[in-house]
Amino acid sequence: MNIGLIGSGGREHAICKKIYESKLVNKIFCFPGNAGTSKIAINVDIDILNFNKILNSIKVHKIDLVVVGPEEPLVKGLVNFLNKNKIKVFGPNKYASQLEGSKAFMKNLCKAKKIPTANFKICKNKKQVKNFLKESSLPIVVKADGLAAGKGVTICNNRKKVLTTSDEIFNGKFKSSKKVILEEFLEGEEASYFLVVDKNNFKFFGTAQDHKRVGENDTGLNTGGMGAYSPANIINNKIERKIINKIVNPTLNFLKKRKNSYKGFLYVGLMVKDNEPYLIEYNVRMGDPECQVILPRLKTDLVKIMLNTVNNNLKKTSIKWRKEKSMTIVLCSKGYPGSYKKDKEIKNLNKIKLSKYDFVFHAGTKVQNNKILSAGGRVLNFTSLGSDFFKIRKRILRLLNILNWKNGFFRRDIGWKIIG
Ligand code: AMP
Ligand code: GLY
Repeated sequence: MNIGLIGSGGREHAICKKIYESKLVNKIFCFPGNAGTSKIAINVDIDILNFNKILNSIKVHKIDLVVVGPEEPLVKGLVNFLNKNKIKVFGPNKYASQLEGSKAFMKNLCKAKKIPTANFKICKNKKQVKNFLKESSLPIVVKADGLAAGKGVTICNNRKKVLTTSDEIFNGKFKSSKKVILEEFLEGEEASYFLVVDKNNFKFFGTAQDHKRVGENDTGLNTGGMGAYSPANIINNKIERKIINKIVNPTLNFLKKRKNSYKGFLYVGLMVKDNEPYLIEYNVRMGDPECQVILPRLKTDLVKIMLNTVNNNLKKTSIKWRKEKSMTIVLCSKGYPGSYKKDKEIKNLNKIKLSKYDFVFHAGTKVQNNKILSAGGRVLNFTSLGSDFFKIRKRILRLLNILNWKNGFFRRDIGWKIIG
């Protein structure tokens, strides 16, 4: 069969590689892909929000299954659009994608189903913000309701900051929504828990811990993610049962009752405190770079899992994992997450000898005149598998040193909380 994969990040290169390894697959088309996917798939340069063009290309290339990597096309209804046109898609529909696309939707669902999460108030104006401030203690987390490309959350340590940040959102800083969500600040340790979900069932799809801050020791600005490791040891069996019973089941039942059953990957973003999980956020897709640490640990054919999900056959699907742990360090363009230069050549990639335990997943890269050039903030993902996080990190850092890309930087301390 032929597969169409939507997206162009490290997550999509990791997914593309797994699809490439599947015996079920003939050709892969990436919309639009990157320099890494171009080696194992055919890149098709189409705007992923231009649904008609995507549909046209799906028909031309006789694509049997579409896999959606990023959130934006999901939230904007690509799955509904393609299903209406009789195309099979792996991913949630527009209604279910509100779990990520609208924090107000997600928080109201939590309230209705008594799901443990930070106390909150959805505000449409300054007066409501001021009222919340009267009854809450600092810090307060200010969030934009809609998609904000990872820039919609501000942790505020004083009341003035709460007011100015809220004002910016009311004034239309983010096109997706003008509503503000104010939240109590949760203490604890963050972890991400993943599931693959069909109409009737779901299966565990790994755990990971991301490192969102740009600087070592978790300092500086927020990014899309500078590195991750898997598994996240903090999620033990007892906590997992609580995640399923108190958070996942009520959510999936809520959607099912509204005739919009969830389908696809579900990313449960958690804060764990005193052995209790609290829901911070849902994402309706795999994480990036979490995907790059989880997929190399997967033993089962990913395309089989995706097909069984689309056909509501997950119950019979056994998903097997390698015992090894894994880590990813993200190589970024200097300046990220602020402004950075593009089109910088990455020269030494062919000097790096990868063992079967090492992977380089491309993100912001492109091929031009047979050269690989940078094309984004997060450029390459170096992933390795092994038995010990300290050794894995050492191995990755050695590979990054061989690459020695002068225009980039990376964090050397991924996993610092568990490695010490
Ligand atoms: P979100 O987009 O909701 O995941 O928020 C981005 C990041 O902000 C999370 O990964 C957390 O590190 C932090 N964060 C969000 N909400 C809270 C909260 N209520 N308490 C503490 N930290 C939070
Ligand atoms: N790494 C965080 C995310 O994918 O949302």
